Amino acid sequence: MALTISSVCKNITPSTTLRLNALVNEKKQQGLDVISLAAGEPDFATPSHICLAGKHAIDTGKTKYTASSGIPELRRALSDFLLAHRGLRYKPGQLIVGTGAKQVLLGALQAILEPGDEVLLPAPCWLSYPEMVRMAGGVPVIVHTDMAQGYLPTPAQLAQAVTARTRAIILNTPNNPTGVVWGEQALRAVADLAQAHDFYIISDEIYESLVYAGERHIPIAGLNEDAYSRTITVSGFSKAYAMTGWRLGYAAGPKAVIQAMDAYQSHATGNPNSIGQYAAVAAMTGDQSCVEEMRQAFERRCALMLSLLDEIPGVRYAKPHGAFYVLADISRLLGKRYRGEVIDSDGRFAELLLEHALVSAVPGEPFIAPGCLRFSYAINEERLAEAVRRIKTFVEELI
Ligand SMILES: Cc1ncc(COP(=O)(O)O)c(C=O)c1O
Repeated sequence: MALTISSVCKNITPSTTLRLNALVNEKKQQGLDVISLAAGEPDFATPSHICLAGKHAIDTGKTKYTASSGIPELRRALSDFLLAHRGLRYKPGQLIVGTGAKQVLLGALQAILEPGDEVLLPAPCWLSYPEMVRMAGGVPVIVHTDMAQGYLPTPAQLAQAVTARTRAIILNTPNNPTGVVWGEQALRAVADLAQAHDFYIISDEIYESLVYAGERHIPIAGLNEDAYSRTITVSGFSKAYAMTGWRLGYAAGPKAVIQAMDAYQSHATGNPNSIGQYAAVAAMTGDQSCVEEMRQAFERRCALMLSLLDEIPGVRYAKPHGAFYVLADISRLLGKRYRGEVIDSDGRFAELLLEHALVSAVPGEPFIAPGCLRFSYAINEERLAEAVRRIKTFVEELI
């Protein structure tokens, strides 16, 4: 038997973000002042009451295995939170806590997919979805959208993508990388289609607390009974509570799906870390003003970023209404020369931007947004302004 690598792993596209991070670190080690607009995490510290709850868990010996689906206190707190803040009624038995929304999403796919099942992915979408679907034996079916349609698929586009093998759709509102917040009409179209063709809805709502004025987050599971019965709502603590490193996320959904996810998780990872779970109870039951403060900061930064991007010719975007990213369409700049070199892709644009302007951004390609760059504005306003000034200078050199 040859010592080979499985075809599942051989076909995984390595993370672009990690490759970029390595380049950024190289530059930083050379003492260069790189500004990262690539990060997918808030720059804020985890709020102190949450940290204290984590410390308390250590001091009181809450450092052992827990139930694989999470401690009852946390599932109870989540159940109460979802009812109070999202109007969703889930019993603790319909909730599972895992090692980040990322792991929970993979668990959900493992729980529902048969080999060859298709999963609809409205795109641009988070770069992990297509890989996760493949890792779980499924086939990603991309539904392309563009800036002109506000990055929202039309009902006709979605309907055309449905086949007899469609098992699920993954929605993400607010969206990474576009910042688009799905409105009620768009969500209803998905719910109706899922009902008509009897497939699951996986709703990734990890940025649900970071929605800006004039928009509101609508959980698709709350639309009607049928949507509730077929939706697996996924969220977590990383973005709203600046807890990326604690690795904690959760899913709420039909009991049978949650039980299957629990069975899988019990062998794959076991419980998520105990200390983080106690900290998460404090996040769910404590004062929510820390979330509001961070949300307001992101909203201010978004306005600043957009006003500065407006001054760069050739850069376009659909206004984000949530999360902390703007997807900048730079397609009009591709084909131009930078110091003699023709820039032929968003990936090369990002590399040259890093090399010469010392600003890192993630290329659109892995988000299925070719011709775009994803800028994160999870940094302070002064650095943000400096980063966009550098981008402008870089673009002004293009001929
Ligand atoms: C859309 C989306 N879903 C899920 C995640 C994963 O979050 P977590 O840190 O909880 O695994 C991210 C993180 O970048 C994300 O952008």
